[in-house]
Amino acid sequence: MRMLCLLLMLTVTGAGASELGALAKQCAACHGVDGISRWPDVPNIAGLPEVVIANALYDYRGHARPCRKPVCAEDGACPDLSMCEIAEPMTDGQMDTLARFYAARPFGSAANEYDPRLAEQGLTIHNSNCEICHTTGGSDPEDEASILRGQNRAYIANAMNDYRSGKRLGEAAMLKRLNALSAEEVAALVEFYASPQVPAPPTLR
Ligand code: HEC
Ligand code: HEC
Repeated sequence: MRMLCLLLMLTVTGAGASELGALAKQCAACHGVDGISRWPDVPNIAGLPEVVIANALYDYRGHARPCRKPVCAEDGACPDLSMCEIAEPMTDGQMDTLARFYAARPFGSAANEYDPRLAEQGLTIHNSNCEICHTTGGSDPEDEASILRGQNRAYIANAMNDYRSGKRLGEAAMLKRLNALSAEEVAALVEFYASPQVPAPPTLR
């Protein structure tokens, strides 16, 4: 264990640190310097499980997830790139380093607008369909099914639609439940996941 820590320290303080800095700078243009994004269709990546971040990067590189560009690219407010283009030149090692870096930072709920009445309905739908895998109301950072609550609202809506339309692959047990929902139920889930986590994390912005 001590050896491992020493090795990790060497990687982070050596050439790895400046490489990580350069990579993370590219991410910051859309995901924010701390991994907390201000664009509704760009997810907060700080505090997501390491495996979720790494898998996402592998999937984008392999075009296994949709290659959409964020809306902020339309008027030049952020780079005109999709995640697939960003992931394409990256090595496995770089992806794993970035995953470790962002997973170690605290998640912060997005400052979304949401309808409290619909969010309440969304919570009920979540509890009977999703809580079994997305525990603690979809807000557990240890949960390898990722954080849903407090995530940027357009990103979460896109993600659910991607699964429902077959553009993103997911576990069969999840797809079965997601596909059985009505459009109204999905809309209520979006309101629930758009609501901030309780208690609010200290990094709310
Ligand atoms: C041009 C803006 C932009 C840049 C730069 C960017 N991203 Fe993204 N990122 C996005 C968008 C948009 C999405 C959501 C795409 C979708 O709907 O699938 C996303 C999604 C992700 C996800 C998926 C999260 C999840 O919950 O599945 C991860 C992980 C990620 N980005 C990491 C990174 C990293 C690491 C970098 C830097 C190497 C980076 N991104 C650079 C725009 C960007
Ligand atoms: C059988 C377990 C299971 C069930 C049930 C389930 N999920 Fe998932 N879900 C997962 C896993 C595992 C992932 C992470 C996939 C990955 O790494 O990309 C995930 C990912 C997601 C994501 C993408 C998160 C991200 O960061 O991009 C959304 C959105 C989602 N689930 C919504 C739901 C909703 C809504 C329900 C209930 C209707 C549900 N899930 C039920 C296992 C499940």
